[in-house]
Amino acid sequence: MSSKKIAFTGFGSVAIHGGHKQDEHNAHLTPVYASSTYVFDNAEQGMRRFSGEEKGYIYSRWGNPTMAEAEDKISALESFGVKDENGEDLKLKTILHGSGMAAISSLLLAKLKTGDKILSHFSLYGGTQELMEKVLPQLGIEAIIVDLRDLNKAEQAIKNDSKIKLVYLETPANPTIQCVDIEELSKLGKEHSLIMAVDNTFATPYLQQPFKYGVDYVFHSKTKFLNGYGTAIGGSLVGKDIAFMEQRMTKVHRLLGGNSNPFDAFLLTQGMKTLEVRMQRHCDNAMQVANFLQQHSSISKVNYLGLDSHPDHQTSKKQMTHPGAMLSFELKDGLQAGKKFINKLQMCVRAVSLGTCDTLLSHPASMTHYGVPKQKRQQYGITDGLIRMSVGIENVQDILNDLEQALL
Ligand SMILES: Cc1ncc(COP(=O)(O)O)c(C=O)c1O
Repeated sequence: MSSKKIAFTGFGSVAIHGGHKQDEHNAHLTPVYASSTYVFDNAEQGMRRFSGEEKGYIYSRWGNPTMAEAEDKISALESFGVKDENGEDLKLKTILHGSGMAAISSLLLAKLKTGDKILSHFSLYGGTQELMEKVLPQLGIEAIIVDLRDLNKAEQAIKNDSKIKLVYLETPANPTIQCVDIEELSKLGKEHSLIMAVDNTFATPYLQQPFKYGVDYVFHSKTKFLNGYGTAIGGSLVGKDIAFMEQRMTKVHRLLGGNSNPFDAFLLTQGMKTLEVRMQRHCDNAMQVANFLQQHSSISKVNYLGLDSHPDHQTSKKQMTHPGAMLSFELKDGLQAGKKFINKLQMCVRAVSLGTCDTLLSHPASMTHYGVPKQKRQQYGITDGLIRMSVGIENVQDILNDLEQALL
């Protein structure tokens, strides 16, 4: 049976059917191909497969049908409705990785060499920040950190240092929910022939498609909203330079060994099918939760892109279809209040990570950033009473009730 051929009019249909190829045994869902290796009919076929003359699977670190479906679905979602510079439908290639960190580090290692520099923003996922501070410098690759929301500062940094080769941004960013103008920064980067790479984990392609703004690479921690159920770890690297993705990047990916596995890929594919409906509910709930928190007497500040008070509200309106489901807020009474609040939660879940059906809350000062000196934490906006919240898709009144009783 052939794969579906009609052009889809809606994102939700692409989320369900995108990337699917009918299994040769007519299984409805692409099965979990739990096979590390693939059989050749004869030596000649082996030669054709290794030379690339014949398409087909060889070894699961290099590719696997279950993983391929997840990859093609991501490409279809990131390119849905997006045109290339010639006005044609944008073509993308995705490589699935074992985690978001594997996807990020693979691209940086494939693109950069000793002496090169990365320009990045100060608000980033902690793991990415540590990669730039503790691992890449050992290879002679340094990161220059500026506030990328300030284009003058970004331009100054680029003009001052010809070693900058790549601009790395995360928008919206952890945990302050800051938002960088992708289009403006991308224009600036391209004027200086820089590689533009964006972590789209918080937004997902349902809310934001960075390729519309001329970027070269998009990352996802698929562990989060793309999977949506908290059942798997995974990452993806998406690129529009198909030749690079199929050759150099594929080679680096295979050699570094940061591949995904068929079971996690299966879970990711099934999870992505509900992306549109989940995101709609996540976002509706988040707006109501932000309004509730903003009016609460124990809270001094709410960081949510949907509120006029967020400094990046206008930027988010320009590039996102909705401000998303991530927010953070500050409790007036600092560390003790943060711990007390987190401990009193009854339905919402005390956990790091984000993007699951359940509402997840974490207290960075006592959890993810416990070991970071207070002064450094505060520089990044991580105060003692800051709570990060990934708003889930439960009935919103139950979320509000739980917050209310925990804030008493
Ligand atoms: C924005 C962002 N990017 C990347 C990552 C890393 O993803 P993973 O945990 O799948 O390696 C995370 C993890 O929390 C994240 O929040």
